[in-house]
Amino acid sequence: MNAEALRALVAEAMLAPSVHNVQPARWRIVDSVTIDLFEDVRTRLSVGDPRGNDAGISLGAAAEGLRIAASRMGLALETHAAPTQTDAALVPVARFLVIEAGIPPDVLAAQVATRASWRCGFAMSSLTDRADVQHLSGPDCAVISDPAALTEAAHLYDAASYGYMRDHAFRAELRSWMRFTPGHPRWNRDGLNAAAMALGRVEAIGASVVLGSAFGVLDWCGVAPGLLAEGKKIVAATGVVVFHRSVGEAPFESGVAFYRLWLGIERAGFGAAVLAALADDPRAAQEIARMAGVPDGRRIVSAFRIGRRPVGGAIERARRSLDETLV
Ligand SMILES: Cc1cc2nc3c(=O)[nH]c(=O)nc-3n(C[C@H](O)[C@H](O)[C@H](O)COP(=O)(O)O)c2cc1C
Repeated sequence: MNAEALRALVAEAMLAPSVHNVQPARWRIVDSVTIDLFEDVRTRLSVGDPRGNDAGISLGAAAEGLRIAASRMGLALETHAAPTQTDAALVPVARFLVIEAGIPPDVLAAQVATRASWRCGFAMSSLTDRADVQHLSGPDCAVISDPAALTEAAHLYDAASYGYMRDHAFRAELRSWMRFTPGHPRWNRDGLNAAAMALGRVEAIGASVVLGSAFGVLDWCGVAPGLLAEGKKIVAATGVVVFHRSVGEAPFESGVAFYRLWLGIERAGFGAAVLAALADDPRAAQEIARMAGVPDGRRIVSAFRIGRRPVGGAIERARRSLDETLV
């Protein structure tokens, strides 16, 4: 394999989703057939993700992105033990050998370039849409589409999400990954920019104030929950997809399946936004599992609000340059 082809594989892998768009994956092209994956621990969310669960999911998604990219070139990946650690900031995750296998492109390959978080509202759902979302149900995925259940899910989400937002340290960490104006030096590189968060110029300034210095007083007056609530978008969604995996599965493995599920949602013609608070908050996770009929012995890994994207909407994704991700 020539270096350009290997760089193209890495670039495509970086299109995978990651928590707060921190993009923890770092890659080393070792030789013409070997690529190492590392986690850059400087991107860890020490408050929001103290155990590295979301980082693990993000790394699993990136690795799956590499595998899908390779399949597009007829190549398979063989996973080997990670190399030894030589840099405190880079934790080795896995080594991949690229094998000429003549395999067909992954069935989800076509969705990689267009998948993106859709944080705007969705188009009004038709009865057919509501029936179609149910086809996404599977062994690790339950779908809620009944309007009353969506309203309940919306309340659960807003309560869970606000519980996290009340923590000053959580807000500070989140804000450090938010880019409220295009003048931010990392607007196009990483984190959550106002466009990706579906915030107009004025809304972005408002969000910056609410999540910053004004939070205490707005919380005290009882106004902050309403300003941060996202529930209306859940009520108006076509469905909520509840993603569950076996208890005890490593986050990396869950991340592989998480990315494939998201690409599958896109292949079915739906857009999606992650509702991580429904999985992270233990009470919300328990309730959503009950509502979705998730069997015992499963862990809620994540949830998505899904629906049809209105015509014409497209989001430019922020990603690190290849030079920033190759180590
Ligand atoms: C583990 C994990 C948790 C996430 N949690 C949320 C979330 O709570 N809310 C949200 O809007 N997006 C969430 N996302 C989506 C990321 O913010 C998104 O993938 C990232 O910003 C990159 O943007 P893209 O999906 O448009 O490529 C999560 C993604 C991952 C992998």
